[in-house]
Amino acid sequence: MSEVLKITYSAPDISKTGSLIVFIGDDGQLPDAVRKLIGTTGAQSLKRAIEAENFKGKAKAALTVTAPHGLEVERVILIGIGGEKDRKETDYVRLGGVIAGRLGSAKSASVLLIGPSDWRVDGQAASDLAMGMRLRAYRFDKYQTKKRDNDTEKTSGTVSVKIGLAAHAEAKKLSKAGEGIADGVILARNLVNEPPNVLDPVEFARRASELTKLGVEVTVLDEKQLAKIGMRALLGVGQGSSKESRVVIMRWNGAKAAKSAKTGPLAFIGKGVVFDTGGISIKPAAGMEDMKGDMGGAACVVGLMHALASRKAKVNAIGAIGLVENMPDGNAQRPGDIVTSLSGQTIEIINTDAEGRLVLGDVLWYIKEHYKPSLMIDLATLTGAVLVALGQENAGLFSNNDTLSERLHAAGVATGETVWRLPLSTAYDKMIDSKFADMKNTGGRFAGSITAAQFLKRFVGDTPWVHLDIAGTAMGSPESDINKSWGSGWGVRLLDRFVADYYED
Ligand code: BES
Ligand code: MN
Ligand code: ZN
Repeated sequence: MSEVLKITYSAPDISKTGSLIVFIGDDGQLPDAVRKLIGTTGAQSLKRAIEAENFKGKAKAALTVTAPHGLEVERVILIGIGGEKDRKETDYVRLGGVIAGRLGSAKSASVLLIGPSDWRVDGQAASDLAMGMRLRAYRFDKYQTKKRDNDTEKTSGTVSVKIGLAAHAEAKKLSKAGEGIADGVILARNLVNEPPNVLDPVEFARRASELTKLGVEVTVLDEKQLAKIGMRALLGVGQGSSKESRVVIMRWNGAKAAKSAKTGPLAFIGKGVVFDTGGISIKPAAGMEDMKGDMGGAACVVGLMHALASRKAKVNAIGAIGLVENMPDGNAQRPGDIVTSLSGQTIEIINTDAEGRLVLGDVLWYIKEHYKPSLMIDLATLTGAVLVALGQENAGLFSNNDTLSERLHAAGVATGETVWRLPLSTAYDKMIDSKFADMKNTGGRFAGSITAAQFLKRFVGDTPWVHLDIAGTAMGSPESDINKSWGSGWGVRLLDRFVADYYED
């Protein structure tokens, strides 16, 4: 979890740097301004390397030129930005990732954010580039006591990175927000990667409580309080664990009075099963260690609150997370048990491994009743079935509101954290009717993600609501330009963008 990059902004500058990063379009030519900075001999060395390697400047392609003649740097890293069309569509966050992946063993780097005249090199581009670099450089290595030989990307100590551009003052100003968002993603990743013996509900709540430093109001409800409130469905999941359950409510009041004050806050609710053995309906051994990530929804909510607070988002937002451990001991919940949820609705437990919905049902109801939010979005690593349906490329989206769905879809496209809507309907709803109670907690073999969402729907009333099933995206997703971590921090950038684009005063 080493924070390896220290990024600053300045005018383009090549002095005292290990790695020099230069962008090249598909004409394979160095921009004139770059040529000027590095001098004739340096430019000639690079030209020879470009020709010898037949480097065409294709988008995201890279060529490292070691110890080029005429330059004092250890290496020049040429990064392709492609043709006119590619350049118009440059994703600067991803581009930053590509750069960070190429830094090598340098202790310092200088990025010359200069390109053909049609390439956007403003403060926002620089700030996004920095975010991508940090997300890519992130590693969770706090439990690795020995450096491993094949760890090519592992650097020891901090690397200072200068991003050089004309608009460096603007970049510096804008980057504050970007840093807060990246910090939020990194916080979420840390929580997901942390082992379950360390991160139990109490420790998770403690870490969430650290958001008070940013001006977030944090309330931690313990088991006694939860029992008094009546969250019996949530407590039932935790009752087989020696670890106590918790619910954490985080409040960020950043709206300038009027707007979201009148309509009610935005509410984000996360599943925080710190470890999911399945309970009495125990899971098979293979891969069970991955169930330390069953709190990815809660991690995202904490990361999002961090992002919103640190960039002082002009919005009122609530984050609520249900923290439990699903274990099978002598006191554990059984298949056949009937629990009365906070809503008053009764639930027959068919499978103790369908625990996330029990946790969320109570938290959703509580937030709806207590805070009258203008909308609720829950995130949960809820079903293996969503992996079958969508793989790891999209989170499953379920909603009772078309506008909300469309907004999230758009924010997904903008950030690359994409969602795909799946249906809800009364026909599926019947699948969770119970012989003995108001509902049962599983709906059979078919449409597992949908019946789980139908279950949640019974706890949101008329509140505009979205459920995101992130079982496929929160952890173990394929590595990308900006993520090499098992815990991806998925959803922080998506929801931050959703808030910024549609809900800030
Ligand atoms: N946490 C799991 C879902 C999950 C599976 C998350 C794989 C990430 C990766 C959830 O609690 C669960 O066990 N769901 C069951 C539901 C079933 C018993 C109806 C599932 O998906 O099999
Ligand atoms: Mn489960
Ligand atoms: Zn689970």
